[in-house]
Amino acid sequence: MSIIDRGLLAQQFEMEQQRFVETHPCSRALFQRAQKSLLAGVPMSWMVKWAGAFPVFVTEGHGAHFTDVDGHEYIDLCLGDTGAMTGHAPEPVLEAITNRIRSGVTFMLPTEDAVWVGEELTRRFGLPYWQVAMTATDANRFALRLARAITRRHKILIFNYCYHGTVDETFATLHDGVVSSRSGNLGPQVNPVETTKVIEFNDLAALEAALAPGDVAAVLAEPAMTNIGIIHPDAGYHTALREITRKTGTLLIIDETHTICTGPGGYTQAFGLQPDLFVIGKPIASGIPAAVYGLSEEVADRARTQTPLEDIDTNGIGGTLSGNALALAAMRVTLEKVLTPENFARMIPLAERFELGVMTVIAEHQLPWIVKRLGCRAEYWFRPTPPHNGGEAAAAVDFELDQYMHLFALNRGLLLTPFHNMALISPYTSESDIDRHTDVFREAVQSLGR
Ligand SMILES: Cc1ncc(COP(=O)(O)O)c(C=O)c1O
Repeated sequence: MSIIDRGLLAQQFEMEQQRFVETHPCSRALFQRAQKSLLAGVPMSWMVKWAGAFPVFVTEGHGAHFTDVDGHEYIDLCLGDTGAMTGHAPEPVLEAITNRIRSGVTFMLPTEDAVWVGEELTRRFGLPYWQVAMTATDANRFALRLARAITRRHKILIFNYCYHGTVDETFATLHDGVVSSRSGNLGPQVNPVETTKVIEFNDLAALEAALAPGDVAAVLAEPAMTNIGIIHPDAGYHTALREITRKTGTLLIIDETHTICTGPGGYTQAFGLQPDLFVIGKPIASGIPAAVYGLSEEVADRARTQTPLEDIDTNGIGGTLSGNALALAAMRVTLEKVLTPENFARMIPLAERFELGVMTVIAEHQLPWIVKRLGCRAEYWFRPTPPHNGGEAAAAVDFELDQYMHLFALNRGLLLTPFHNMALISPYTSESDIDRHTDVFREAVQSLGR
């Protein structure tokens, strides 16, 4: 953007990159060694997208901090992109999962923890019936399958620049108003243009028009968008979304995998949403792979009649390790002792402190930037006004500046969520962690001559 001197930015980035390489010799050596056994030197392809010349290799994490193989300690504001929102190795979880591992991890039979978890999920989120999957991606896939089976419609509707995991049908965006495969979509099994309608978030006229033909099985939505930055719904948007989906016989799937940051019952409880299906993964078991999807009474009634018993293992839903004893034990203790109202009451004010710190720096330097927050998640934007939808948000992405801010922070012991400028607060994050971020953010702005 014009307020940033691009030449200076490139020069400063180069300096930070050199500093990173010089101070991370052990990570560099591991990355070089890994080239021979791991595709691109990492166990999962996204790990090459961090701002440093190579990823930092981790040794251990405790609470809101982790250490790398070069002995650097970091304040973790990424928290495994929400998978570790509970903090790393939270004490109560350690005890419960260690006990469970000693008593067996997976049986393809239920444990009592499953019943406790189902009851607690109903108490928090309102839906009466629950199923367990391994990841939020899987939970979304299963919810979509159920929605298509029940409604006998094959299209789904998503919002432009949403993210719901690696779910084939969701890899579509709008280009000049036309639905196209999302940039980067690798080897899709079905062209998402055939399966998916895409509209902008907060656009009720587009929603009415897209659902009017009655061919959409489900709207899959985050209640507030978080994956192209935080985008809040307009006042009254959710009421209208619910009315229009009901009127057109379209199911509403609310994915709270990230928006659980709103509070212990997610956005759904905080704002009284009434989804037909509900999904949450990532932090629900403190990072042990697990996710759940919930079904309303009516969806459950219609779902029960879908598959005869003899075909229950071939209906495309579930998995051998889904609902395993370890995942359920981890979910139980996470819900009981970590994602508690008391912890949220600590985390949310810390996110407000983050927001205020960044806003102060922005004001000091008269930058046309803003900060948005949802519960214990906050994010800054290099634009003067909040984006109203994914298209506007995507247009505001400044990859070079993002990379610089991330690398600058990393070199000073702070890890931000990759792919955007997001910070998440765990129960273990402290005021001094937040203030350290504010100081480093100020230094980064100053380094760009502002
Ligand atoms: C809203 C939302 N849903 C689902 C997912 C998929 O989670 P996972 O990658 O753990 O399957 C993500 C991942 O970022 C997400 O942000």
